[in-house]
Order: sequence, then structure tokens, then C-alpha cells
Amino acid sequence: TGKIIIAIDGFSSTGKSTIAKQLAKELNYIYVDTGAMYRAVTLYAMKNNYVSANHLDSEQLIDNLNNIKLSFLFNAELGFAEMFLNDTNVEREIRTIEVSKLVSKVSAISEVRKKLVQEQQNMGKDKGIVMDGRDIGTVVFPNAELKLFMTASADKRATRRYKELLDRGDKVNYEEVLFNVQERDRIDSTRKDSPLTKADDAIEFDNSDMGLNEQFERIMSLVNDRK
Ligand code: C5P
Repeated sequence: TGKIIIAIDGFSSTGKSTIAKQLAKELNYIYVDTGAMYRAVTLYAMKNNYVSANHLDSEQLIDNLNNIKLSFLFNAELGFAEMFLNDTNVEREIRTIEVSKLVSKVSAISEVRKKLVQEQQNMGKDKGIVMDGRDIGTVVFPNAELKLFMTASADKRATRRYKELLDRGDKVNYEEVLFNVQERDRIDSTRKDSPLTKADDAIEFDNSDMGLNEQFERIMSLVNDRK
């Protein structure tokens, strides 16, 4: 039985990364959170004042793309890889609501996507990988052996994200999180380059009500059919 590529796409906070991490652990595969990469580029753009709530200087950002080095370093204690931006651990910083509010603007820039897609394809060249994002089954790995498309109600998703942020001690209100989740989905689905859309051959999972264990079992049997 050979190694495969598992592509997981879907709207924000549908539990993609939870299921992806679990699959990678079970299969001894690499897990890549591509959202973390777009978030890290956004953080870089914020720090250099290329983007804010009311402006985006895409030209400056594009000119500096070669100065952005992204790397994942496995943290054995956490059991997953953390995101590093120019050798600094930014795992915590990239999850803030400030980054969430700007990331969809930055990820709509074609040159940004081109750079990250190339790096992602490179990480998957030996297969044995679980990758989650918005364009994995459509653009990054159109030939992935297994494609999943995750959905859940906006309220379920916002509640999930809200709890995550509160648990980390961030000051946010529910309305703000709900708005951000819906706004990102809107921008991500309507952008010109690689809009979020279900690949024809992706299998859809609505996990509004489905338990994680049931979902995991069902996905593992799909994986075993394809190995
Ligand atoms: O997955 P996560 O919610 O962390 O992704 C953050 C943002 O990064 C998304 O809202 C989207 O704008 C962008 N993204 C993307 N393509 C991917 C992964 C994420 O455009 N493959």
C-alpha cells in the first residue's frame, strides 16, 4: 500500500485542521496548515505597513516576497509543526483576530499565491501528506487521491473560533468573530485567483452535528480504500 495525498478544503473554522492533524498522526503523514502560511505573509505585511484596515500596498509586498522565509518546525510537545517567519516562531501571533481580519486581502494577491502554492507542491512531492486550506484539491494538488470538503453552519463555526480565541486569553466579542468568519468566506469564495470552491471529485462533510470520532472513522475508511 502506497502513500497518498489528502487534500482538505472548506470554509473557515470548519474543523479542517483538527481532522487533518488526527489523520496525519494516525497515518504517520506530514500535516501542512496552508492557512498558517497565508497568515504569516499577512503578519509580515502588517509589520512592514504594507497592509492595514484601510490600505493594501500589494506592489511593496510583491517586491519583498523574496525576503519572506516560511518554515514549519515540529514541536514534539504539541504534536504538530509550528509556523516560523524568518526564523521567528509566529504560531501564536498569526492566530489573532487582527491577522484574521487582513489575511483574505493578502491571500487574494496572485503573486503571493504563486509563491505559496509552489512551496506547498514541493512539500507534497513524496506524498504521505495531509494538507488543509482553500485551494488544495482544486489548485495545489488537483490529482490528490482523496479530497475532502468541510462545511458547517456559520454559527457553529463562529462559536468554535470564538471559544478558541477566548481560551487563549484574547479579547474578542462573538459578533466580531462571526462577522470575520463570514467576511473571510465571502472574500475567499469570490476572489479571481483560486477562489474557494469544492472540487468536483471532493467528498463533502457537514460537521455541524457530526461527532469527531464518527467523522474520523468515515474518513479513515475512505483513506484505506485509496492506499
Ligand atoms: O485556514 P485559515 O482560516 O487559517 O486561513 C486563513 C486565510 O488564509 C483564509 O481565510 C484565506 O484567505 C487564506 N487561505 C487561502 N488559501 C489557502 C489557505 C488559506 O487563501 N490554501
